[in-house]
Amino acid sequence: MEKQAFNIAIDGPAGAGKSTIAKMVAKKLNFIYVDTGAMYRAIALYLLRDGVDTANEAAVSEAVKNADITIRYQDGAQQVILNGEDVSGLIRTEEVGNTASATSVYPAVRAHLLELQRSLAASQNVIMDGRDIGTCILPDAQAKIYLTASSRVRALRRYKELTEKGTMCNLEEIEQDIIERDHRDMTREIAPLKQAEDAVLLDSSEMTIDQVVQAIIDTAKAHGLKE
Ligand code: DC
Repeated sequence: MEKQAFNIAIDGPAGAGKSTIAKMVAKKLNFIYVDTGAMYRAIALYLLRDGVDTANEAAVSEAVKNADITIRYQDGAQQVILNGEDVSGLIRTEEVGNTASATSVYPAVRAHLLELQRSLAASQNVIMDGRDIGTCILPDAQAKIYLTASSRVRALRRYKELTEKGTMCNLEEIEQDIIERDHRDMTREIAPLKQAEDAVLLDSSEMTIDQVVQAIIDTAKAHGLKE
């Protein structure tokens, strides 16, 4: 009999550290890390490049049919492929992130990615991060985590990251942006960001990265993960 895949779902707001932490957990457990935000970002990049009016749902729903998204792994790292092109680096801008948040509200955009996300988790052990993984994409995931932190802490982390790269930025603006993004992701009609009933809540505001990683591994073990 084929071994059942073990799935860990991590949801939470922007900047909570999901991807950094999920990557570390994946490495320790020898799981595949699946970043679903990158898929929404790749669609956003396609729409921006195509000059589609992102406020126009019909136009977005039509355009998204032409955005073929796949993912590939190189040396354990996920690469997002948009119509044959590796766009993994190009999607990491504020503009693409905000456009992804704005366009992920449309049912056609979400439906476009649903099968890809489910199929990745069906046959292999994955830790998948996003906004609706525990509630909608993988409702049967064995371990579910809702990872959050205060908007101030998240803004400070982002501020530090940007200033270290030499990018000029303003902490208040970053925090405002985070609050707006949270609001949009949490109040949209389909698949809004929310904690699944059976998810473990982790607030990382006062935790170190290693503590969060360990808490997730402990949760997975408590839910049946065998080493
Ligand atoms: O996690 P991220 O910042 O890369 O995600 C970008 C946007 O994509 C986020 O603001 C909302 C959307 N998204 C989503 O709607 N559902 C997911 N599972 C992942 C991301």
